[in-house]
Amino acid sequence: MRVCVIGTGYVGLVSGACLAELGHHVVCVDVDPVKIEKLKNGVMPIYEPGLEELVLRNARSGRLSFTTDVAEGVSDAEVISLGVGTPSADDGSVDMSYFDAAAASIAPYLQDGAVVADKSTVPVGTAERIETMIRSMTSAKIDVVSNPEFLKEGFAVYDFLNPARVIIGSASERATDVMVHLYAYLDCPKIVMDRRSAELTKYAANAFLATKISFINEIAHLAEEVGADVESVSKGIGSDPRIGKEFLRAGPGWGGSCFPKDVRAIVYLADQHEHPMPIIRAAQAMSVRARQRIIERLERAIDSLEGKKIGVLGVAFKQNTDDTRESPAVDLIAFLRDRGAHVQVYDPIARLTGAQMGDRVTHVVDPYEAANQAHAMLIATEWDEFRALDLARIKSAMVGDLIVDARNMVRAEDAAHHGFRHIRVGRK
Ligand SMILES: NC(=O)c1ccc[n+]([C@@H]2O[C@H](COP(=O)([O-])OP(=O)(O)OC[C@H]3O[C@@H](n4cnc5c(N)ncnc54)[C@H](O)[C@@H]3O)[C@@H](O)[C@H]2O)c1
Repeated sequence: MRVCVIGTGYVGLVSGACLAELGHHVVCVDVDPVKIEKLKNGVMPIYEPGLEELVLRNARSGRLSFTTDVAEGVSDAEVISLGVGTPSADDGSVDMSYFDAAAASIAPYLQDGAVVADKSTVPVGTAERIETMIRSMTSAKIDVVSNPEFLKEGFAVYDFLNPARVIIGSASERATDVMVHLYAYLDCPKIVMDRRSAELTKYAANAFLATKISFINEIAHLAEEVGADVESVSKGIGSDPRIGKEFLRAGPGWGGSCFPKDVRAIVYLADQHEHPMPIIRAAQAMSVRARQRIIERLERAIDSLEGKKIGVLGVAFKQNTDDTRESPAVDLIAFLRDRGAHVQVYDPIARLTGAQMGDRVTHVVDPYEAANQAHAMLIATEWDEFRALDLARIKSAMVGDLIVDARNMVRAEDAAHHGFRHIRVGRK
């Protein structure tokens, strides 16, 4: 099939490359000429495992191309997938300006029978609204479907090609058939429903997963009080298939480019309908609390943060990504800075943006430089390499003896063996 993907971010670029891998002819369009130039030259604008190889292979085969020219991408496409950003607005609602602009930009070039797929995470009612808008701008017979994406950054290529399900929200049998055909090679259920339900499914999924993390953090805090170990509890409850083991790792709360904004959006939606959302609101509060509690424990252990040097390992919101949007690590660094600490940050891939840096924060090139003269180390992101730290080298670089392990990466026995005081989440 001929497919056009609008937006070449984490979702757009990964879906474009994966759809090409599945045998479709894909044109990816972005308004950012720098990104498109990079992609044309085989340079990835984002870090995502396996993506570069996939993009290069499919570009070489002629099935994947990049352009800033909407007409070039859209005019003979059977499916146009809209994957642009839908960030939070200041009031917690969704800023639809990028999405609406993208939808308007394709309208003049759509051919009869084209299916426009909302891949971005968008408020309930968007597919209907966008369909009305596009139909008012073109005489072509088109349908709009909701086709939310569930991939995880850091595992995006694998997730796209091995999804648990594909959701198709549709009001047209023809459009449903086109979408089922698009994903025919993916071996998973294709769940067809109405468009509003599909849109709400995406928000409900993210709110549920965020709540699951907040739940285990609440249990972790109790475990710290009563002398239990949350990791054993997670294992104990997660092996019950009714609960499942995913998203049961206690830590500094959730972050990233999706959970915070999508949870804000579902709460905003509920407010619009005067519908209370006590569980999801509590999950939001717990995510903030989880970060604060880590800083409070660190501060108690070294008396005061004023003028102290803290080495922070990780700024990405999770492992295997360069994304720092609403990263728990970034919040932890801000808390440390606000309390007067000097912060030495190391991350294998991600970098703080200018706005995230602020005073008294420096990027260093390895974990041992982060430890240099540090009073404490804080492990803020679960990069695999932090499991294999040379603890003797870390200890000898530091002036202090404290590891605050917000991701429970270091084995308690190893920390003790090297003479560290070791604070873990969910353990006294
Ligand atoms: N990142 C994730 O893990 C993830 C997972 C599932 C769903 N989503 C959803 O997918 C959507 C995209 O997220 P993302 O993280 O890929 O965003 P992103 O910010 O990484 O990328 C968005 C891209 O869209 C481009 N763009 C903006 N306006 C455009 C226009 N009018 N025409 C063409 N391109 C335009 C931008 O230049 C940018 O390259 C969001 O709604 C998000 O909630 C994201």
